[in-house]
Amino acid sequence: MKKRIGVLLSGRGSNFEALADSIAAGRISNAEIALVLSNREAAVGIERAKARGLVTKVIPSKGLEREVYDRQVVAALNEAKVDLICLAGYMRLLSPYFVAAFPQKILNIHPSLLPSFPGLEAQKQALDYGVKFAGCTVHFVDENLDAGPIILQSIVPVEDADTEETLSARILKEEHKIYTEAVKIVLEGNFNISGRRVVRS
Ligand code: GAR
Repeated sequence: MKKRIGVLLSGRGSNFEALADSIAAGRISNAEIALVLSNREAAVGIERAKARGLVTKVIPSKGLEREVYDRQVVAALNEAKVDLICLAGYMRLLSPYFVAAFPQKILNIHPSLLPSFPGLEAQKQALDYGVKFAGCTVHFVDENLDAGPIILQSIVPVEDADTEETLSARILKEEHKIYTEAVKIVLEGNFNISGRRVVRS
């Protein structure tokens, strides 16, 4: 049986497309994207998913209390019988209810070397701080912002001439690579979590 992945996104969906490409090319084997869900009607990622013939769903979050909203999302993910959930530019904090519904089954990608620069505009935060190395992180999701045990990270040197755009673009290339690698690790189950450490087995 193929492992069923649910992707949650709020925006353009390049990380979703990288995962979809990796599945299509066999870099992630024995998996399929069962559902692409967004909290935003206008998310470009939803159009991209439709163009690939994937099942999509938009559940607008505006005005809803966090857990009330999350109950709807969890129901949709359960209905789609997902084995793994990949947040791909999904700009919402998950409620404890959501996290508890899928223990160790929710991944997120973030464009910084966590725990540095969580939250919005992580690449700008890194430039403004003046770090010499930026990067990206794939981690398990808990109810805190951009927290949870780290699966993979990739380092991207900051160049003197970098702007937010050039740095973001170089980080994004790495995001696309490590998200595929992290999904493989998790789907193959070749890891265990000891405290905060994800150790490959
Ligand atoms: C990516 O850079 C992702 O790491 C970031 O949003 C962007 C989404 O791009 N996520 C976060 O900042 C989560 N805290 P995409 O829609 O093209 O994948």
